[in-house]
Amino acid sequence: MRKYSTPGLVFSLLALAGLLLSTTPATAGSVVASKHNLSFAGTTTQVCVYCHTPHQPEDFGGSQITTDPLWNHELSANAAYGVYDSPTFDAGPGNLNTISDIGGGSEISNLCMSCHDATVGLSSLYKEPTDGTSGVLPTMDLFNPRANLGTDLSNDHPVNFLYNAALVAADGALVNPDSASSVDATGNIRLFAGSVQCASCHNPHDPDNLPFLAVSNNASALCTSCHLK
Ligand code: HEC
Ligand code: HEC
Ligand code: HEC
Ligand code: HEC
Repeated sequence: MRKYSTPGLVFSLLALAGLLLSTTPATAGSVVASKHNLSFAGTTTQVCVYCHTPHQPEDFGGSQITTDPLWNHELSANAAYGVYDSPTFDAGPGNLNTISDIGGGSEISNLCMSCHDATVGLSSLYKEPTDGTSGVLPTMDLFNPRANLGTDLSNDHPVNFLYNAALVAADGALVNPDSASSVDATGNIRLFAGSVQCASCHNPHDPDNLPFLAVSNNASALCTSCHLK
């Protein structure tokens, strides 16, 4: 004898789905289930360690490494990345270079470029995990050529410039930022000391909107959260 009639089973499943939908809180996706989990490379099971460590070490020169936020991935030594320019461009980007202005916001983009300019091994850490090794991963060009942005950012969406009321006035087609730390009132499109950086458009911990986008880009919603186009 069948235990459930088919319509009854379908109904139960629908009811269960409804219950799950109504009771599951909206949470951000996790870096653990993302391409930014590099723990497959080594024997460690740690995830954050490829980018952060709770206690930063001395570097090889003997000085304390103090790159925020508790950074653990070896930084790129590229001296300068070049800046975007065009006849209609109003902003004045600063040239990203080796971290010199901690607190000025540009360090956030330098953190990304420590892997995405493909000059540093992906598993090159200041401090190895205690539960194993970080393994040996090649630089980004061998890993995934598309994700290798190279050492020249002059042909990429500009980063490292102030996005403030003066720029809004000069451009004439930009959203007025809510504050120096966010474009939108909910804080999804982040600014860093008032500046646009990689992590304005990307959230390196959240794979829900691929590829690590801060918000969905359906109907170019990411772009129109800043550009009135
Ligand atoms: C692939 C690199 C990467 C991995 C892995 C990673 N992070 Fe981050 N994290 C970053 C970068 C880059 C920033 C700075 C940009 C930003 O805030 O998004 C950051 C910022 C942070 C911050 C400070 C800003 C904030 O959002 O509060 C915290 C806290 C943090 N990470 C925690 C974690 C934890 C916990 C894990 C592991 C579960 C983790 N991260 C894994 C790259 C990474
Ligand atoms: C520890 C090295 C590391 C750091 C630091 C890092 N990434 Fe990544 N990132 C990777 C790797 C490895 C991949 C996976 C490439 C692949 O397999 O396609 C990746 C993938 C991505 C992708 C998706 C690319 C794709 O083709 O799917 C984006 C977007 C991205 N990273 C942005 C960022 C941003 C923005 C930051 C800084 C806020 C950052 N990453 C910091 C290593 C890193
Ligand atoms: C103005 C928004 C914006 C900024 C700033 C930005 N990105 Fe992206 N990025 C995107 C979008 C949107 C995509 C997805 C493009 C697509 O789907 O075709 C993307 C794609 C990527 C990819 C995947 C490779 C590719 O070309 O598809 C990587 C890696 C990446 N970004 C890293 C970075 C890093 C590192 C920075 C800082 C230097 C950065 N991004 C700054 C919006 C941005
Ligand atoms: C965090 C806010 C923000 C997001 C998101 C964003 N932009 Fe921008 N973008 C700006 C600002 C600010 C400028 C500088 C405008 C200027 O100075 O003329 C700019 C510059 C540009 C430029 C160069 C304009 C010129 O005059 O040369 C283009 C093109 C552009 N963005 C396209 C895009 C596209 C396409 C997207 C979505 C993938 C996007 N932007 C997402 C803020 C943003």
